[in-house]
Amino acid sequence: MGFLSRKKPKPAPVTVEESHPIDEDLQRMEELVPESVAAEAPAPAPPAPPAPEPSAPPTPPVEEEVAEDEDDYLAVEDEAEEYVEEEPEEENDGRMMAADLIAPSRNDFVEERRAEAEAPVKHADVIAFANQKGGVAKTTTTLNLAVALAESGHRVLCIDLDPQGNLTMSQGIDPDKVEISLYDVLVNDVPISEIIVRREIDIAVASIDLAGAEIAMSTKIGRERSLEKALKEVSGDYDFVCIDTPPSLGLLTINALTAANKVIVPVQCEYLSMRGLVQLQNTLRMIQENLNPDVHIEGILPTMLDTRTVHAKEAVEILEENFGDLVFHTRIRKAIKFAEAPVKGSSVLKYDSGSSAANYYRELAKEVLANGSA
Ligand SMILES: Nc1ncnc2c1ncn2[C@@H]1O[C@H](COP(=O)(O)OP(=O)(O)OP(=O)(O)O)[C@@H](O)[C@H]1O
Ligand SMILES: [Mg+2]
Repeated sequence: MGFLSRKKPKPAPVTVEESHPIDEDLQRMEELVPESVAAEAPAPAPPAPPAPEPSAPPTPPVEEEVAEDEDDYLAVEDEAEEYVEEEPEEENDGRMMAADLIAPSRNDFVEERRAEAEAPVKHADVIAFANQKGGVAKTTTTLNLAVALAESGHRVLCIDLDPQGNLTMSQGIDPDKVEISLYDVLVNDVPISEIIVRREIDIAVASIDLAGAEIAMSTKIGRERSLEKALKEVSGDYDFVCIDTPPSLGLLTINALTAANKVIVPVQCEYLSMRGLVQLQNTLRMIQENLNPDVHIEGILPTMLDTRTVHAKEAVEILEENFGDLVFHTRIRKAIKFAEAPVKGSSVLKYDSGSSAANYYRELAKEVLANGSA
C-alpha cells in the first residue's frame, strides 16, 4: 500500500476494517497490567503543560549517553529531489547569436548561463507530525527535529497548525500578540511569506483565532487544499517543511496531510497512545484515496520512553511487531529538559546542546536523512 511504503522491506499491509492484529497484543497488555497500582516505580504521568520554576536550574536526570558522531550527519549531502516546471528553453534555429560574434569563449559563458536558468528548483520535503492523541510529543518532535535538520545545514520551515500555538510559544512568540497568522493564510488567502517569523528555524505562526479556522473554511471550495496551495509560494526556499498538527483528525489535520508527502507519527510508549494508531491509518488511507496519493508514513516514533518500566518496553515491542520497519530505530526517552526548554522559548538543542535529550533528535534527523529525505 502506498502510504505504508518505504524503500526498505515493508511490513505486511495493515487492514484495519475488522479486527487488527494489534488488538490482540493490546488485549494481552491489558491482562498484564495488575489490578492495583503497585508493580512499577514511576507512575506514567499524564502529560502536563510545562510549569517549572523559571529560576530553578535544570537538574540533569540520570540518562544514558547516546553514541553520536556529529560529523556523520553534518556531512549528509543536500540532494535535489523533485523538479518544478522548467524555464522555457531558448530557441536556437542555427542562426548566429550575438554572443557567438563577440568571441568564441562567449559560447561557454552562454552555456553556463543556460545551465543556470535550467537548474531544477527543489521542492521541500513536507513532513506532517500527526497523532490525534494529545500530549504524545508532536510539537516537541516537530520543533526539535526541525532544529536538528537545520543544524545539519538544511533550510527548514515549521508550520504551527495547532490553535493551541504551542510550537509558536516554544520559539518564544506569544500567540496572543500575533497579528496575522495561519488563520489569515488559510481563510483569507494571505501569502504565507507574510506570517513567517525567523527564530531558530523559520516558523509560520499560529494564533488563538486558528481555532475558528475550521468553521470559517468549511464553506470554502478546496478547503482541504488551502495549506497545500499556500505552501507553493515558499516550497522552493526550503529543504524541509515540518507541520505540527492539533490532536484531532479535523480539517486542520486534513490540510496538513494533504499538503505533506510524509507523516511522522509520534507515539507515547503507553497503551492508550497506541490505540489511536489504527484510526490514524484509516484517515491517512482516506486522504490517500481522495486527496493526496503521495502521502505515506515515514515512520512511527516511540516517544517519552521510560526504559525502567515493563509497560513501556512492552509497548515498543507491540509497535515493532505490528508496524515492523515503520518504527524508527531512534527512541526518544523521557527527559525533563523537554519540558524546560519551551519555558526558555527554545528547542532542546539550543537549551542544552550537549544533552542526551538533544542527541535523541539528532539521531532522528540522521535517520530521516538516511531514509532519503531532501
Ligand atoms: N521525551 C519527553 N520526555 C519528557 N517530557 C516530554 C517529552 N517529550 C515531550 N514532553 C513534554 O510532554 C508534554 C506534551 O508534549 P507535546 O506538547 O510535544 O505533545 P503534543 O502531542 O504536541 O500535545 P498536543 O496533542 O496537546 O498538541 C509537554 O509538556 C512536553 O514538554
Ligand atoms: Mg502539540
